[in-house]
Amino acid sequence: MTNNRFAGKVLLITGGAGGLGAAIAHAAGHQGGSIAILDTNSDAIAELVTNLRSLGITADGRAVDVRDGKAVTKAVGELADSLSGIDILIAAAGGSLGTPRDMDDISDDDLDLVIDVNVKGTYYCARAVIPFMKKKGGGSIVTFSSIGGRSASPVTGVPYATAKAAILGLTRRLAKEVGLDNIRINAIAPGLFLTDRLTGMFEKLSAAEREEVLSGIPLGRMPELRECVDPVLFLASNESSYITGAVLDVNGGRFMPS
Ligand SMILES: NC(=O)c1ccc[n+]([C@@H]2O[C@H](COP(=O)([O-])OP(=O)(O)OC[C@H]3O[C@@H](n4cnc5c(N)ncnc54)[C@H](O)[C@@H]3O)[C@@H](O)[C@H]2O)c1
Repeated sequence: MTNNRFAGKVLLITGGAGGLGAAIAHAAGHQGGSIAILDTNSDAIAELVTNLRSLGITADGRAVDVRDGKAVTKAVGELADSLSGIDILIAAAGGSLGTPRDMDDISDDDLDLVIDVNVKGTYYCARAVIPFMKKKGGGSIVTFSSIGGRSASPVTGVPYATAKAAILGLTRRLAKEVGLDNIRINAIAPGLFLTDRLTGMFEKLSAAEREEVLSGIPLGRMPELRECVDPVLFLASNESSYITGAVLDVNGGRFMPS
């Protein structure tokens, strides 16, 4: 255990059964946190919860689609009962979710899926945890934007860019609404992190597009997953206690806001 900064804290991680969410679950658990997972993949939830428990980490999970606001509220209530409330929400469920990148190929259903999971899903999860955070006297929410919502990245398409930019508006406006309840909400905007799913997507890009991504990274290399996990946990933890409504770009310098 590197430190115990999440001792006594319950972290709800959506999309926590895979990719960055699962890496965050492990890291936060190793730093003393109790872990609650919401994800659609019930097998992956069961495997992760068993794995975390075998490491002595308190963990529980529910299979829920974050697009279903009522189901989210019910599952969050059950997890809060079983784990003693919710202190931190990491709203990682999202992505381009296997939809095509180019507008000619994108169906109306693709557009709905990307907007609904990323934007409405984040809204529903935040709405469900806030009453539990108020009961505890405060909390921290980390939302997931993307370099695709901050700039015209060649990796993902218009619906994803739209959704990830919307999450920034959600984050800022909600930060204003819940600040006096001592609840902070900040967004992380990762560049490309090669999780299992994204390795395939990156390999499908043309050589020129891959080169556009790589040559645009001042640090000159692809990141390790840890290099997204650590900034997320900084925003989640008390180390960022005077930061709210902010966006943290974690992209090796590929996008530098003015
Ligand atoms: N990996 C990257 O390079 C990168 C870059 C920028 C932003 N992001 C964002 O980070 C977050 C995590 O990305 P990732 O690469 O780890 O994704 P991933 O696909 O590896 O994992 C996403 C998880 O979310 C779950 N999920 C999908 N739809 C869901 C739904 N409707 N309800 C509940 N759970 C659902 C999946 O089952 C999966 O476990 C996403 O919001 C993504 O847009 C990722």
